[in-house]
Amino acid sequence: MSNLVQIAYLISSILFILGIKFLGKTKDARKGNVLSAVGMLLAIVATLVNLNLATFPEMLACVLLGGVIGLYYARKVEMTKIPEMVALFNGFGGLASFAVALSDFFLKSQLIEGLDTVNLISIILSILIGGVTFTGSMVAFLKLDGKVSGQPITFKGQHLINLMLLIVFVVAAVLVFLNPGNPLFIAVLVVIALVLGILTVIPIGGADMPVVISLLNSYSGMAACATGFILNNNVLIVAGSLVGASGIILTQIMCKAMNRSLVNVLLGGFGQTVSGPAADGPQIVIKEVGVEEAALLFDSASSVIVVPGYGMAVAQAQHVIRELMEQCEKRNIDFRFAIHPVAGRMPGHMNVLLAEANISYDKLIEMEAINDDFSNTDLVFVVGANDVVNPAARTNPASPIFGMPILNADKARTVIVSKRSMGKGYAGIENELFGYPNCLMLFGDAKQTITKVVGEMKEMS
Ligand code: TAP
Repeated sequence: MSNLVQIAYLISSILFILGIKFLGKTKDARKGNVLSAVGMLLAIVATLVNLNLATFPEMLACVLLGGVIGLYYARKVEMTKIPEMVALFNGFGGLASFAVALSDFFLKSQLIEGLDTVNLISIILSILIGGVTFTGSMVAFLKLDGKVSGQPITFKGQHLINLMLLIVFVVAAVLVFLNPGNPLFIAVLVVIALVLGILTVIPIGGADMPVVISLLNSYSGMAACATGFILNNNVLIVAGSLVGASGIILTQIMCKAMNRSLVNVLLGGFGQTVSGPAADGPQIVIKEVGVEEAALLFDSASSVIVVPGYGMAVAQAQHVIRELMEQCEKRNIDFRFAIHPVAGRMPGHMNVLLAEANISYDKLIEMEAINDDFSNTDLVFVVGANDVVNPAARTNPASPIFGMPILNADKARTVIVSKRSMGKGYAGIENELFGYPNCLMLFGDAKQTITKVVGEMKEMS
């Protein structure tokens, strides 16, 4: 039986690795999800069978119950609420690792053979990372859900307190090693880990949470990995490492795309430096365009690139953009989408929305692949995007987004920007693009204005 279980674990691990590989490409992401889910099911069944914990009918009942609950929430959750859901997933993952570590400690510390060094190190790491992940994710969830203020909560000496707590944690961890039978020191570890989770997330601004969520996702993987060492369970070690590593890679990609350092995120206080009028440029003079004129510009273009941003998500304009694409393609206009890695408010935000509107994946071109094409493009249509096309990132060293890679929308022959007003984007700064001679502003809610543009185009044809 033990060999069979190990083989099942090996297959699960392979499925996880393949799953994460497929998840790297939008086209194959569904396949990746299914493979990983099958891997997880196999690992759970193998564990239950191995430990003789449940009969097959009991397992089936649990799978059905869990499946129904999962399906209900997956269908119910709104796209904009995904970060909250991921925060809860991470939090409960961290809590599970934390609980396993504690129970293993109390179980084994009663035994004569006691706890060995690897056991103790794994338990301490699991308590630290699992505890931080749990309370940190709960704070992130409450902030994102608006249940507590999304503003950064800061106070003097915050980082020093965090550092002191970490030092006390290390001292208590050494004392746990010296006195594994004394529950007092483990209680100190528990309290510090839980408090650290809260303290490291409260100074972070609500809109910056996606980066922190990704980091906490990585932590939950690391906690699971440490738990894998506690339980001597290879598949948990593999799965935890995959989540830990992919989470940290995603965090780094997001930081790079937003021109922030990972250290800045880890120290907290993230999000306080982004806004403020200090780097705003001179007053800009804009030119407006109406829906009829906009429709004419589309009609006469031979190439169009759409730059979607957060406003497209707010307006839920993706479906009407597909209609716009159909109108353009009817006219043999080359129509593509330029996807900035941090457009919107969560990784892959634009890809998911456009896929929901049945826009084929091969129309969505990543920033590096499309940036050189803007200068040969007739018309760029910026839909609810702002920071990701702000040329200040290239030209203004005083700008908080200076150095952030942007989409070269300004290089196109004509740029139409669909937004409601001259409102700023997430970074809270002016966008000089709106005053460029080749830029026209199409004011109004993106869904409503694009619907009118599509209507005009339909009448023309
Ligand atoms: P933003 O710079 O946030 O700009 C969004 C624009 O959408 C606003 O200027 C707003 O202008 C417009 N808008 C809002 N509602 C609209 C509606 N109903 N119709 C039309 N326009 C509407 O968006 P972006 O360019 O996508 O940039 C994303 C920003 O978020 C970056 O600064 C990025 O660093 C940050 N961020 C991203 C992530 C991830 S992972 N994606 C995570 C955290 C932070 P009006 O109010 O005038 O309409």
